[in-house]
Amino acid sequence: MNNIVVNKELAPKIKLFDIYAPEVAAKAKPGNFVILRIDEKGERFPLTIAGIDSSSGTLRLVFNEVGKSTKKLGNLLEGDEVLDLVGPLGNASEIDDFGNVLCVGGGVLVAPLHFIASALHRTGNKVITIIGARNKNLLIFEDELKSVSDELYVTTDDGSKGYSGLDFVKEILDQKNINRAVAMGPVAMLKAVCEITKPYNIKTMVALTPIMLDGTGMCGGCRVSVDGQTKFSCVDGPEFDGHQVDWELLSSRMRTYSTEERISSLFYEVLGEERLRIGSD
Ligand SMILES: Cc1cc2nc3c(=O)[nH]c(=O)nc-3n(C[C@H](O)[C@H](O)[C@H](O)COP(=O)(O)OP(=O)(O)OC[C@H]3O[C@@H](n4cnc5c(N)ncnc54)[C@H](O)[C@@H]3O)c2cc1C
Ligand code: FES
Repeated sequence: MNNIVVNKELAPKIKLFDIYAPEVAAKAKPGNFVILRIDEKGERFPLTIAGIDSSSGTLRLVFNEVGKSTKKLGNLLEGDEVLDLVGPLGNASEIDDFGNVLCVGGGVLVAPLHFIASALHRTGNKVITIIGARNKNLLIFEDELKSVSDELYVTTDDGSKGYSGLDFVKEILDQKNINRAVAMGPVAMLKAVCEITKPYNIKTMVALTPIMLDGTGMCGGCRVSVDGQTKFSCVDGPEFDGHQVDWELLSSRMRTYSTEERISSLFYEVLGEERLRIGSD
């Protein structure tokens, strides 16, 4: 049912899939995510919707092959099927006429940021975008974001393209009257963006990516603390006011299973799925 229609490698270990899922595509909005299960023995894991094509009934996912499930997904070919795809989940990003909006994206989440930035641009906002990656070879969606941004800045951790780091963002905030910011990317980047925007009193919405299981608010796996209150990222988020997020709690909860994740990924890489199944039977 959920066939892979397009499978493209955008950069090393970064894949773009267009998947046939007409019912999800018909309802999906920027900021929503889906939860996938590749096969009967697979775990459920979330990916953010990076775009939709309602005429072909497909939705776009862009993902990093970091562990067992994402590597398994990346090994599927065009025509292959994903067993379950549940969505759209989470609250859509707030799209309104805010004025000047700063959009900041890091790593693979630059792709779903494009879905949000496009909607903000269409709504009449002036969109100032910053995209970043560890190095220039891992930068994605630069042209796509350029086409929906009034200004686009590039930053890389190693300085191989554009700026190095995020210090230059202060100059942008000093020069422009930014009314709102939205950021998607690794936790360290989200936290750094919030530290920069806070003294300017710019509301900064951040898309959090804690560990998720059911995606329906039942398991508590995605618990985060925002403004001292417990929230479930899957149903209350995934976007929250970044100036109120408890970043230490989020980072430590995301490391909960790092040993198991490393072992599982190593087994998958070295022994392959069949040996894993024999071992667990
Ligand atoms: C709402 C939401 C939306 C997401 N959208 C995307 C997306 O569009 N594209 C994408 O590539 N990834 C996205 N993620 C992260 C993605 O779900 C994880 O990378 C995936 O579950 C890892 O599964 P795995 O079995 O391959 O690796 P695991 O074995 O689970 O983990 C391997 C490594 O990845 C890290 N990792 C695991 N989970 C996460 C996470 N939630 N965020 C960041 N690092 C993680 C681990 O610390 C570990 O180092 C999203 C997560 C959430 C909660
Ligand atoms: S993923 Fe279970 S409560 Fe959010």
